[in-house]
Parts: sequence; C-alpha cells; structure tokens
Amino acid sequence: MLPKTNNNNNNFYDNNKLSSLVIDSKEGFKNDKPIVITTALPYANGEIHIGHISSTYLPADIFTRFLRISKKEVFHVGASDDFGTPILIKAEKENKTPKEFVDYWNKRDIEDFNAIGISFDKFYKTSSIENQKFVQYVFNKLNINGHIYEKEVIQFYCDFDKKFLPDRYVIGICPYCKSKDQYSDLCEKCGRVPEEILEPKCGICGQSPIKKRSKHFFFKLSNFSFELKKWLTDNKNLQVDIKNYVLHWINEGLEDWDITRDLDWGINIPLDDANGKVFYGWFDNHLCYISTFNALMKEKLGNNDGKDIWNNSYIYHFIGKDIIYHHFLFLPAIRMGINREYKLPDYIPVRGHLMLHNKKISKSRNWYIGLKEFISIFNPDFLRFYIAIISPSTQDDVNFDWDVFFSNINNDLIDNIGNFVNRTLSFTQKKFDGIVPEPRVYHEEDKIAIDAIMNIAKQTGEFLKKAETDKALKTILKFSNFFNQYFQKKEPWANKNSSAATTLYISINAVRALAILLYPFIPNSAEKIWSQLNNDDKLQEQSWESLSLLKILPSHRIGNISPIFKKIERKEIEKEKRKLGSIDGSRDKKNG
Ligand code: MF3
Ligand code: ZN
Repeated sequence: MLPKTNNNNNNFYDNNKLSSLVIDSKEGFKNDKPIVITTALPYANGEIHIGHISSTYLPADIFTRFLRISKKEVFHVGASDDFGTPILIKAEKENKTPKEFVDYWNKRDIEDFNAIGISFDKFYKTSSIENQKFVQYVFNKLNINGHIYEKEVIQFYCDFDKKFLPDRYVIGICPYCKSKDQYSDLCEKCGRVPEEILEPKCGICGQSPIKKRSKHFFFKLSNFSFELKKWLTDNKNLQVDIKNYVLHWINEGLEDWDITRDLDWGINIPLDDANGKVFYGWFDNHLCYISTFNALMKEKLGNNDGKDIWNNSYIYHFIGKDIIYHHFLFLPAIRMGINREYKLPDYIPVRGHLMLHNKKISKSRNWYIGLKEFISIFNPDFLRFYIAIISPSTQDDVNFDWDVFFSNINNDLIDNIGNFVNRTLSFTQKKFDGIVPEPRVYHEEDKIAIDAIMNIAKQTGEFLKKAETDKALKTILKFSNFFNQYFQKKEPWANKNSSAATTLYISINAVRALAILLYPFIPNSAEKIWSQLNNDDKLQEQSWESLSLLKILPSHRIGNISPIFKKIERKEIEKEKRKLGSIDGSRDKKNG
C-alpha cells in the first residue's frame, strides 16, 4: 500500500495500526445492527425553511451520511404530515382539494430536500394507503387491549365558519403558565398540552366559539405512567435534562388523549359508529415513521414488511424541542399499547430552535428565510456548513446571523479548507505536472502530519457516532488548519532538502482525507474535491476508516483543478439583510 522508500523509518507508517471504529453500545451503536433514522414530518402546508433544516433534517442527514460511509446498514425515512384542519382550511382558500394541496407540498418538500442534499431512503406521506391501514390496525389493537374508550366531549364549534374547531384553531391562555395566544393543544411557552385552554377564540375568524356535543375516542395515556417512567429511566441514551422534565410531567399526572376529530380530511376510524370522524393528526403522523419504513422494506424485500428488521435495529427519531411531549410520552405509549410489536426508540436527538438575528422565525412577519430562496442565492453547502458549525447537539437555541454566516464561510470554509485543498492541488499541477510525487525524505513534521491523517478518522468518528456534528466539524477545521500550517512551514516552493515531494505526497493524501471527512457535511463540495483528485473509485464507495490511509500513491495523476468555493461578497450579505422583515422582500408569496 505504501510507497517503497529507502527511508528506514518506513514502518512508522504502518497503515494497519488504525484502530477500528467498532462502537460500543454505551456511546453509540454496535457494528452489527441496522440503524433506522426518522426525521419529524413536515406539515404539508408550507415550504421547508432554514429552521427545519437546523433542528431536524441537517443533523439527521449528517449522521445518516456518516453511517452510510461507515458501511452501516442505515435507513432514513420521512414523510409529509398531510392531515388536519390547517391543511383543509388552506386548501379551501386556494380552491384546491386537500389531496391536491398536500400532493403539491409533498413534491415540493422532496425537491427542496434534494436541492440541499437531505438524503432520504424514502420520503412518503401520512395519507398513503399504507399509513392509513397501519393506523387503523394500531387503533384496533389498542382497542382490543383496552386502551381506548369513548366519551362524549363538548367541543368548540364556530357558528360563523360552520366548523368544529380543532386545537390549533382555538387560541387562548395556557392554564398552566398563563401565557397568552397559545394553541389549545400545545403551549409553546411551557411545552405542556393543556386540557382546557382559557378564554378561547376562533383561530379563523376571531369570534368566540360555541360548544357542541360530540362522541370521541380517547387513548388512555394514563395507563402507561408506570411503564413510561421505567422506559425513560432505563434508557440511558436519552438527553438527561429532557428526561427529567418528562418524568416531572408524568409525576404531575398524564391526561388521556382525544384521538378523534369531527372532520372529513383524515384517516377513517375503523368502527361502524364513527361516521364523519377521523383520527387526530398526532395519532397517525408518528405511526408513519413505521409505515414508511415498512413500505421501504417491501420495496427492497418483496413480501417482507421488515418488522423484524425494525425490531433488530437501533431506532433514532430526530426532532425539534417543540414536539418532545409527543415523542417522549405519546409515541412510546402507543407502541407499548400494541405490545411493543414495533420497538421503542433507542435515541431521540432533540435540537433547539433556530432564531434569525435573535428573533423567532415568523413567516407572517417576513422574519424568515425559505430554503428554496436561500439556495437560489448561495451554494447549498454553505448553509449546511454554517448550520452544522453553529448547532450544538443539545436543545439550546441557535442563532442565524448573516454577518456570522459571511465570516464563517469566507474564513473557516474557504480560507481554511478551500485554501489548503486548492494550494495543494495547484502546486501539484504546476510543479509536478499533476503527478503525485514520490516522497524521498521524511522529517519530523512529516511524521506528525502523517499521524494527523492516521488519527483523524477516529477523532472525528467519535463525535459523529454520537451525532455531535458541531464538534466533529470543528475537529475537521483544526485538521485542515494544521495542514495549512504544515504546508506553509515546509515551503515546498523553496524545496529545501528536497522535501517538496514528501510535503505534496502527504498533503494530497490529507486532501483525500478531507473529501471523505467533509462528505457528511457538505456532500457536493466533497464530491468536487474528490473529482479533482481524480480517483478511480467513487467517493461514496470509500469507507470512513480508509480516510486515515495514505491511499493516493506516487505517480497518480490528479484531475483538472479549479477553486472548490467562491467567496461571498459583502454586498450580497447586505442585500439579504435588507430583505429581512421588509414587506417587498422577494419572497415566493404564491404558496406561502
Ligand atoms: N408535523 C409535526 C410538526 O411539524 C411533526 C410530526 S412528527 C411525527 O410539528 F412524529 F409526529 F410524525
Ligand atoms: Zn370562526
């Protein structure tokens, strides 16, 4: 593998010394099991914005790509969340059927995710036949198991809009923390799901709704208090701070969930006396993680729905912190209620909100950046890089700031990584006719540099296997910075002690390492680096471990080279800053 040299220190570069990346179960996953990754389902009623990317899709995608290149069996599934009154009302406003409306957004989601490289193995929809059937199956089983009961409820009804008003369309004061303007099914201030909101108003017309009687089905969440507590306590992979306040919610007492709605847009309840009612969106949406996985397995395996594979996998649900209650209580309880026919999550990585210049993102106030618009102006990898570097793997909020974006991209990505890659490749092109030179002498700095390459897969992998994406990326930046200094110090242009060949041979291999290291974070740019290296095999075929090997041999010819990135100009940033909050910002208003 290694070039033969007459240097007797040669055994120093023993590539076989690489410690393996087998991961122990306490910190991550074992080598042997598949990994199922799900990302919270976007509502099919508006475009993906940078906030969704930051809290959910990017961390999940970096993790997924890392696992794929680490040669794990990994399945990333997602779907659009198609049901519910908001969607019905918006569709009505646009003179579309709800189906036309959600199909439009499902397609648009897929386009936007593709454009920024969020790589799903399957992106489906909660309105799929498979999900409808699965949801009905789960309901029947819960019913047989005694976890469902019927109860007459008094529901808000708007006489003006002629509609039963579901949770999101009744706005009022949270009975727990007394915050105003909260949805009746979720207080965004304290995170609780109130039983009865105070001073309710119709969310469509603002008038006070009247109350009407209706028979509904309830899920006995309270049946699971004990089992949920045990699960939360036993599962050592859940973030401790979150676990503690979820345990606190259980101790306060869990309310049963009304899982039906008087609507005609939703999944039918499989009972004779349930005409005109459908399931509540939060009953069916998380089940779509499973039904989409099943559908994917059927595509791959034919008749097999992959239940065994699900149950033999590590399950990760990536979510934002606003839906903790649903994923730490409701979702596990429903799986418990069907005898854990599908296993509970092993990991629920929860991330905070993305703020925009320290203010909450809001579409109506135009304090918002849509994904499509962003990437029509900037390289999609710039967004991935910036968000990855600023987002910790905790539920702390993160701030998007155009000036910081500007300096992170120009200084860290381009001046650091881009510069090292470019100077290495262009030096090889100019001084060695594009042929990787044969190293002759190894000095102390060269040995340190080779060591850096040999250690970087493990160092970065340690963070990535825990989905600590920011720490991983910072480690890569340090590595690249180290190589910039190495190159500078070695002054290959002066070729002192005929060391230029060694410097370039090692640097080219560091560039190869960088291409693989960066693949989970900025896949398109990593591909660009890879193609300039002119390797025979594809980037995605490489293994993570192999990035720490000096695989590019002397006499290899590199490809055509050009700068990997183009710097952002100050005036582009000023323009984006002016657009924020301005009424005539060039937004795509049509579907917003
Ligand atoms: N659509 C929901 C939201 O945006 C998330 C659904 S995630 C699921 O808040 F697990 F419940 F499907
Ligand atoms: Zn109304």
